Amino acid sequence: MEIKKISVIGGGTMGNGIAHIFAMKGFSVNLVEMNSDLLDKAFSTISNNLERQVKKELISQSEKKEILNRITRIIRVENTPVDSDLVIEAIYENKEAKQKIFGALEGIIKKDSIFASNTSSISITELSANCRAENFIGMHFMNPVPVMKLVEIIRGYSTSDATFNTIKELSKKLEKTPVEVYDYPGFISNRILMPMINEAIFALFENVASAEDIDTVMKLGMNHPMGPLTLADFIGLDVCLSIMEVLYKGFNDSKYRPCPLLKKMVAANKLGRKSGEGFFKYE
Ligand SMILES: NC(=O)c1ccc[n+]([C@@H]2O[C@H](COP(=O)([O-])OP(=O)(O)OC[C@H]3O[C@@H](n4cnc5c(N)ncnc54)[C@H](O)[C@@H]3O)[C@@H](O)[C@H]2O)c1
Repeated sequence: MEIKKISVIGGGTMGNGIAHIFAMKGFSVNLVEMNSDLLDKAFSTISNNLERQVKKELISQSEKKEILNRITRIIRVENTPVDSDLVIEAIYENKEAKQKIFGALEGIIKKDSIFASNTSSISITELSANCRAENFIGMHFMNPVPVMKLVEIIRGYSTSDATFNTIKELSKKLEKTPVEVYDYPGFISNRILMPMINEAIFALFENVASAEDIDTVMKLGMNHPMGPLTLADFIGLDVCLSIMEVLYKGFNDSKYRPCPLLKKMVAANKLGRKSGEGFFKYE
């Protein structure tokens, strides 16, 4: 099946990046938000990010205009065009809310199209329980989407080979590198990244070293571009906690227990960059 028309549900951090990259590669994109203010905000973020690419001479002003013209703004999920070949859901990380979106889309979108979720940690098999499970897949882009090369493609229990191959080829058209992953908690990316971040928080909690020194060890010693605590602040400590809870519950294994300091900081609303303070302070 050839994918031409993409609908992206949610125009937040990930959704506007996903719409940006598809439109840039020539696809026709519908960007779906809850109201016109959120839609305008998402659209102006895409426009500003494209302007940055113009300034770096990666695209021309006229290309920027063409890319924006490929994006149609849609208010409310119920108005998602029936002829979408692929719908990518990128709303906030909540299983019930995502299932509700897919339940609504199941009654609207043509039956042979593919549904994908950009979830970081929720089971693809559970999200597809009440809709086209064979045509359902995880398409986990990384932040910022236009820059990051990886797409983790997650096969749910019933995902067909045809669906997987279509999404793999599509990811290559976006000049991304797809990897095939089966549906277990945290997939690969967060199953490995989050316990590392959690362990760095335990090291801080146990006074093994300061936050700065923990990050310095991982940057200079392991050649990581960013220390684990700086990365946790960037991702958001609430997001880190919720992913650790998914791993802990999903595997029933104490090795994934979230560090008490992480829980306490989330309770104190010290969420990292977005709240102005996490392991480090931000202006
Ligand atoms: N932020 C990251 O670094 C990152 C990386 C990879 C994956 N993810 C995953 O991507 C998804 C989105 O994350 P985000 O950081 O972009 O969240 P976000 O909060 O920035 O954006 C979510 C957007 O969805 C919109 N939305 C909510 N309900 C909606 C509805 N019913 N209809 C239409 N729009 C709706 C909101 O208005 C908001 O703009 C999550 O599942 C998250 O786990 C996030």
